[in-house]
Amino acid sequence: MQEQVDKIIKKEVERRRTFGIISHPDAGKTTLTEKLLLYGGAIQMAGTVKSRKANRHATSDWMAMEQERGISVTTSVMKFNYRDYEINLLDTPGHQDFSEDTYRVLTAVDSALMVIDCAKGVENQTKKLMEVCRMRDTPIITFINKMDREGIDPFDLLSDIEETLKIECAPLSWPIGMGSDFKGTYNMHKGELHLFSATHGGSIQKGEVITDLNSPRLDELLGSQADQLREELDLLQGAGYPFDKERYLAGKQTPVFFGSAINNFGVQEMLNSFVELAPCPGPRASTTREVSPFESDFSAFAFKIQANMDPAHRDRIAFMRICSGKFTRGMKVRHHRIGKDFQIANATIFMAQDRTGVEEAWPGDIIGVHNHGTIKIGDTFTSSKDELKFTGIPNFAPEHFRRVRLKDPLKSKQLNKGLHQLAEEGAVQLFKPLGNNDNILGAVGLLQFEVIMSRLKGEYSVEALYEPVEFHTARWLSSDDIKELEGIKKRYPRFVALDGDDNLTFLAPSQWRLQQAEEEWPKISFQKTREHQ
Ligand code: G4P
Repeated sequence: MQEQVDKIIKKEVERRRTFGIISHPDAGKTTLTEKLLLYGGAIQMAGTVKSRKANRHATSDWMAMEQERGISVTTSVMKFNYRDYEINLLDTPGHQDFSEDTYRVLTAVDSALMVIDCAKGVENQTKKLMEVCRMRDTPIITFINKMDREGIDPFDLLSDIEETLKIECAPLSWPIGMGSDFKGTYNMHKGELHLFSATHGGSIQKGEVITDLNSPRLDELLGSQADQLREELDLLQGAGYPFDKERYLAGKQTPVFFGSAINNFGVQEMLNSFVELAPCPGPRASTTREVSPFESDFSAFAFKIQANMDPAHRDRIAFMRICSGKFTRGMKVRHHRIGKDFQIANATIFMAQDRTGVEEAWPGDIIGVHNHGTIKIGDTFTSSKDELKFTGIPNFAPEHFRRVRLKDPLKSKQLNKGLHQLAEEGAVQLFKPLGNNDNILGAVGLLQFEVIMSRLKGEYSVEALYEPVEFHTARWLSSDDIKELEGIKKRYPRFVALDGDDNLTFLAPSQWRLQQAEEEWPKISFQKTREHQ
């Protein structure tokens, strides 16, 4: 019996791929996502995902859009099937001000797909996201997009990726020309030639197999570009890295594909390799042990909270990533932070356009659980009673700060409630200095402040203002020496604050003051990130 259950879990884990797309805005993430969903049959028509785009809209449009849709454009989990695989694509917000959210979404994936615009090379946001992937050695497949446009020479693109992102490139396909001369790609892995036609839109392209590169058929199809391709492939053999699956899985090497998302060219080729190469859900670290996805006990952690998704019901949804075992509807689980059991009666699974109730789910899947504030980011849930706490879901030191001031002082209760609940979503952090009654908001990106103000008004009927504050950055304080902590609290009552979870924080007015404090209190550690507790 147990053997049977183990066999089912193994099968379900091995056919799951949970990944996120990382890219700089405008590289083509939305277009590519849409094409992937088309292959998965999750959407019928191109253009459906477009409305999700947030990155190129002005703030006001962005917020109006969010309200209109009733769900946040910052969140999306898309589930689809492709061949025998169950794929969970976690969308990461495109706007750079949401990078903290993005970081946490990336803690819930097993691999990533990096999209690069062939005319731009590696851009800033990609660089930042790559740093996050590196924290967990997330395996990355690269898709170099927009080959139908003039861009940087492919060899230079590979050097750019290798030098800027410090990762080896192993091209699995190679472009034949680019821009108006773009003829297609040659898949070195399969020895297949894929010819490009800008008109094949949503249809599935078939490759012609040419195993012998010296075949005259190549000249027939490509004309003078055939020799160029032969030369370039020769050059690659000497200069490029051969594909090494172990190095890819260790996050040291990235397989590279070339194509054009808008023309749906090279997308399926990449998807086919993606499902075969990308890892299935793997083991997860916890404070006490590593949890294998094949364990029969259910376990999951919350990596994102979205409040008021449906303004009519004032609910909040916690997004949980399943790490082991099987989830079934109505299951009773232990909520480890508060030490209580509760029943998950109404979990939701997110398809491209719909949300549906979940009957069962497996490791790698993401379920949405409705709750009224009992679930926080980083919380662990299990079907067994054994103590467990997953690690690796951080808070980052904010770089922007504002003091919140109420327009109507009688509303301070609502303000506190609103600020607390919105801070629990993790987009902003709330700090209360020990020496006064200020409410200080800290964020990694500025757009968060505007979103919070608009949501305070819309969801909590609170009118407030922002005032500038002198803070420059924050550090979480910890020390085994209580006396030291008491000392710094006394010395800097305006700079030492409690965050939303009552952790001591140092709000530094300048880099210099931070350094000074660090030197003055050597027994205290000043941390740039904090694990959720
Ligand atoms: P993002 O989500 O990464 O921000 O990028 P998105 O997919 O929205 O693509 C950004 C722009 O690049 C869009 O053009 C899109 O049509 C275009 N694009 C995507 N893939 C390709 C490609 O393979 N080749 C070419 N030539 N263009 C591509 P836009 O004009 O800014 O928007 P739209 O009017 O098409 O919506």
